Amino acid sequence: MGVEVVVEGLSKSFGQQQIWQDVTLTLPAGEVSVMLGPSGTGKTVFLKSLIGLIKPERGRVLINGVDMVNSPERRINEIRKMFGVMFQDGALFGSLNLFENVAFPLREHTKKKEHEIRRIVLEKMEMVGLAGAEDKLPGEISGGMRKRAGLARALVLDPEIILCDEPDSGLDPVRTAYLSQLLIDLNAQIDATMLIVTHNIDIASKVPDNMGMLFRRNLVMFGPREMLLTSEEPVVAQFLRGRRRGPIGMSEEKDAATLAAEAASPLPGDEDDEPFRIPRQLRPSPGMPPRKAVARRRERVLSMLHTLPPQAQQAVLESLKYDAGLPAGAPAGQAGQAAAPPQGAQQPQIVPPPGGPLPPQGMQPPGGPAGPAAGGPR
Ligand SMILES: Nc1ncnc2c1ncn2[C@@H]1O[C@H](COP(=O)(O)OP(=O)(O)OP(=O)(O)O)[C@@H](O)[C@H]1O
Ligand SMILES: [Mg+2]
Repeated sequence: MGVEVVVEGLSKSFGQQQIWQDVTLTLPAGEVSVMLGPSGTGKTVFLKSLIGLIKPERGRVLINGVDMVNSPERRINEIRKMFGVMFQDGALFGSLNLFENVAFPLREHTKKKEHEIRRIVLEKMEMVGLAGAEDKLPGEISGGMRKRAGLARALVLDPEIILCDEPDSGLDPVRTAYLSQLLIDLNAQIDATMLIVTHNIDIASKVPDNMGMLFRRNLVMFGPREMLLTSEEPVVAQFLRGRRRGPIGMSEEKDAATLAAEAASPLPGDEDDEPFRIPRQLRPSPGMPPRKAVARRRERVLSMLHTLPPQAQQAVLESLKYDAGLPAGAPAGQAGQAAAPPQGAQQPQIVPPPGGPLPPQGMQPPGGPAGPAAGGPR
């Protein structure tokens, strides 16, 4: 089973440029999480910080008790072997064929015999739909195939944590749908903790158990997918609906005057303000084992349910009913005695008005510390 990744108060800058600050969240063991954020907000820097390739100035990343920020390199290297990483640019070796690219981590980090390497490489290539392409060079295949080769390479060491940096970029919608299913099937097969960075709203809304968003040097929110998909927080709502109207601009955040002008006269084509429909989360393909994370997540979200805004609570209960195979109209209680908060827990908290305070950041346990206001001073 995958392991929990605990991020506490992480801050990173390059020279004068603050990338993000005080990021706190937990990637629950074996669950799939997605990190959203406009281009340049530091998503890739965040992934690289989790594996200790980039050193934040403050904070900790705890995996099996090892701090990936402040531990000696020897200990970090040990934990790094638990990761499978699919980098944004593919990072394939141009002069090696796909077989050798995928085999590379096995040759580098293990003493496996050639026949064993061959078995593992062929198995992973088959898993990502690349069987038969072993002899091709990266320059001879499509962008989508290169992405999948990067994913196969990320899988060969049987990772407990998988990081995918924009696995969908450059893929057509059909391939993106296949990729979404592949990610869920992978999670069902190996129960690894997964973090996916993507701009693709279809993946973001159908694949993960949890979602987060980086903006303006802060983690705006992180929590169950239903919390972000129902959120009225302006940055999150704008991003998930792909609207121009809102705090996110073409290059940077918009100034107050621009926002006021937008409020006075909506941008053409941006008027449609239909509530965001929450799609069902993908299930493993027929023949795949069930995802073990589903039962664990159910316990976890039920214990924190009372901390979520009402519309998110409702959406979580609907999802749990769907997971349990109950009809949409079934009483909420059937989804797991979920309607009432657990005994001894705090009363329901927070109904965030648009732009108002946010629910707790990260996966705080009931009664845990409340998070900061969106985009506000930290
Ligand atoms: N090694 C580095 N040295 C200096 N600045 C860097 C370095 N790596 C990243 N940056 C800067 O950090 C910021 C965040 O970069 P990052 O690649 O994490 O963004 P991103 O959110 O992944 O964007 P995209 O969606 O376009 O991939 C950028 O301004 C980038 O120029
Ligand atoms: Mg990036």
